[in-house]
Amino acid sequence: MERTFLAIKPDGVQRGLVGEIIRRFETKGFTLVGLKFLNVSKELAEQHYDVHRERPFFGSLVEFITSGPVVAMVWEGDGVIASARKIIGATNPLNAEPGTIRGDFGINIGRNLIHGSDAPETAQREVSLWFKDEELVNWQPLITPWLK
Ligand code: TYD
Repeated sequence: MERTFLAIKPDGVQRGLVGEIIRRFETKGFTLVGLKFLNVSKELAEQHYDVHRERPFFGSLVEFITSGPVVAMVWEGDGVIASARKIIGATNPLNAEPGTIRGDFGINIGRNLIHGSDAPETAQREVSLWFKDEELVNWQPLITPWLK
């Protein structure tokens, strides 16, 4: 079953949007299989954003993601990687459609509330960077047969 890595960034936590953001993936029908609340180390932040290392905003990305606690999650479901990206919306919240998380709650590209893996390879890399195997829970919601 497909899995993706999502993280509610420090702005989402500080603005009290944790419940609202989780609700959107829960009510869509995806299954939560990993969840932790943590302060991110500089080392983890740099590894997570490694692909952006040469970009001019790399320093501020790392500074921001380490500035306050983050909700790290793994979600499971058919097509969850692409679907979560749609639910999240465009990188710049000013371009994100209403109805998406960034479109509904954000106005600043550097403070765009949530991260979501953008492809199967990055999802695998990010899930194993943030979670140990034993921190992921294998379970089936009772509603699953109803969704099929
Ligand atoms: P990116 O992976 O391109 O976007 P997304 O989060 O939608 O997958 O970029 C990672 C983060 O870097 C993005 O969430 C916000 C930040 N960022 C900037 O601050 N300035 C920029 O010009 C870009 C492209 C991203």
